[in-house]
Amino acid sequence: MSIFWRIARSRPLATAACVATGTAAAAAAAANGTADCLSWWQRPKKTVLITGASGYLGQHLLASLAKEGRYELHGTYSSNTAFADDWGDVCKCHKLHLDDAAAVSELMASLKPDVVVHLGAVSSPNVAEKDPQRTHAINSPTALIDGLAPHASLVALSTDQVYDGAHAPYTETDPARPVNVYGASKLAFERALLESPAGGRSIALRMSLLLGPPAPKRSKKMGSFLQDCDRMLSSGTAHSFFDNEYRSVVALDDVLHVLHWAVGGGAAASPGVYNMGGPAAPSRADIARAVAHHRGHSVAGINAIPRPPPTAGQAASPPNIAMDSTRLERAAGLRFRPLEAILPAVFS
Ligand SMILES: NC(=O)c1ccc[n+]([C@@H]2O[C@H](COP(=O)([O-])OP(=O)(O)OC[C@H]3O[C@@H](n4cnc5c(N)ncnc54)[C@H](OP(=O)(O)O)[C@@H]3O)[C@@H](O)[C@H]2O)c1
Repeated sequence: MSIFWRIARSRPLATAACVATGTAAAAAAAANGTADCLSWWQRPKKTVLITGASGYLGQHLLASLAKEGRYELHGTYSSNTAFADDWGDVCKCHKLHLDDAAAVSELMASLKPDVVVHLGAVSSPNVAEKDPQRTHAINSPTALIDGLAPHASLVALSTDQVYDGAHAPYTETDPARPVNVYGASKLAFERALLESPAGGRSIALRMSLLLGPPAPKRSKKMGSFLQDCDRMLSSGTAHSFFDNEYRSVVALDDVLHVLHWAVGGGAAASPGVYNMGGPAAPSRADIARAVAHHRGHSVAGINAIPRPPPTAGQAASPPNIAMDSTRLERAAGLRFRPLEAILPAVFS
């Protein structure tokens, strides 16, 4: 008797099925419900659809999920025409306008994804404010929810701007009262998702200001606020940074950790809404000072000023939306790192 069969026969029946190798065996195991006991390289790949994959976070997420080698990746883009050239070897690229509900339904029906990560958005509050109807259609595309298969999960990237900024620090049980169109559109999607049948296996992540390295490839947003600061401070001219708004800035690597957890089964196992921010809430002027210190720039170029009230058509900005994210830390098994730990990782 071969060593292979001796091991197989010494195990209970369900485990013996797990030693089958190869795609056909893995597919058969999936069909008869034994896929969970297969090693990751034997399991059929989960199909993951990322909306807004052509954006800053989307590109980083694609790159890191691709390294795992256990997902069939699909990414959507809208206006970033370089996306299919840059990422066609990593994922299947789909041009999709999220405000076209019929196109969203068609894509969902053809892919039948196991997990959807919804990142696509009008992500600038000022742009969002100018056209509430379009913003709502793009940021809260309910056809994504309606198109989910009965077993599928959705991971929604929401925002700290669902909070009003007057009662920080916020926990997930505090009332969400957005002060701008962007926050309202994100909250609408959270509610549509969590009140739907898919809500019991899906999550909404209320993310704070995201700080990380530049985008891996061509993207409209080429970097985070850290690269903006570095560029402004190295220019030799003075720049204004708001000193009266506080955000629980969060590291890209920590967000990727959470998204891997969510895609890998965390969303289905621990559904609901989560704050996703770091342990401290600096102002933009504080961040600029930290970048100056870390990069050896003069702080003389930092003109710290309060954000003026919005002019007509501009988005209101919640002043202090510091969040307590311990619920997500417990669920996803991490400690969000502070700004001092983010800077060396980003500028190394
Ligand atoms: N970055 C932050 O600090 C931050 C903080 C809190 C929450 N968030 C949320 O996190 C998510 C990712 O943020 P990000 O910084 O990666 O955003 P981003 O770089 O602005 O990317 C936005 C993505 O949405 C796509 N998109 C825009 N309009 C679209 C439309 N009409 N139809 C389909 N897709 C459209 C863009 O595609 P094209 O480029 O191809 O047009 C792009 O892929 C967003 O939902 C954002 O609201 C971000």
